Amino acid sequence: MQRKFIVGNWKMNGALTNNEALLKEVANGLAQMPTVDCAVCVPFPYLAQTQSLLRDTSIKWGAQNVHQANNGAYTGEVAVSMLRDFDCDYVIVGHSERRHLYGESNLLVAEKFAAVQEAELLPIMCVGETLEQREAGITEMVVAEQLAEVIKLRGVQSFRTAVIAYEPVWAIGTGKTATPEQAQEVHAFIRKHIAGLDEGFSQALCILYGGSVNASNAAELFCMPDIDGGLIGGASLAAKDFLAICNAGQK
Ligand code: PGA
Repeated sequence: MQRKFIVGNWKMNGALTNNEALLKEVANGLAQMPTVDCAVCVPFPYLAQTQSLLRDTSIKWGAQNVHQANNGAYTGEVAVSMLRDFDCDYVIVGHSERRHLYGESNLLVAEKFAAVQEAELLPIMCVGETLEQREAGITEMVVAEQLAEVIKLRGVQSFRTAVIAYEPVWAIGTGKTATPEQAQEVHAFIRKHIAGLDEGFSQALCILYGGSVNASNAAELFCMPDIDGGLIGGASLAAKDFLAICNAGQK
């Protein structure tokens, strides 16, 4: 079994003073947990602060979005080379909030995924179905379609240097977590789907679960065979909760 990977997604939250206290507490706590891997994806303006507070720790950091182009006339956007300047390791692409609030298509997500990999950073690619899609019984089809665009653009082997996060849209920020069995079912599907196209690799594929993970449900999710860790929104904003989740991911 591979080490669990726990990623905090702060979304549009944070403030210089709070961040410092949060990151220091998380770093201190993680120093006592050598068997779990951890990263935080913070808003762009806090990358410099995060870099300076975490550079001597085991915690990695990253961004929550990126533009697909290398540079140019894209007012308000951020290029992956800029994220490299702050030593980011990870970039979340295709988060459901980006897909639903900002209309990001599967193709755009795949282009962002490609830009991240071309800069030698690791994409954390989010996939997941809405409640209507789940109720219509098309969860696997939706997830397969989300993955297909990346496979078309980059090849299935591109998942060898990426992380996938399964985040059912109906579970994000709603307090309504998928049951461990529901999550496991989709994780197993993703692994099998990739294995069908890239035999030999899929066991090493890191598939995170995200959607209302908290200190009380983390352990039961993490003990499912195809859940390799978590993408944590709300609960990553309080050091105590985030550390409890990381602790649940320890071997
Ligand atoms: P949540 O968010 O933990 O607040 O549900 C997860 C995510 O959106 O990545």
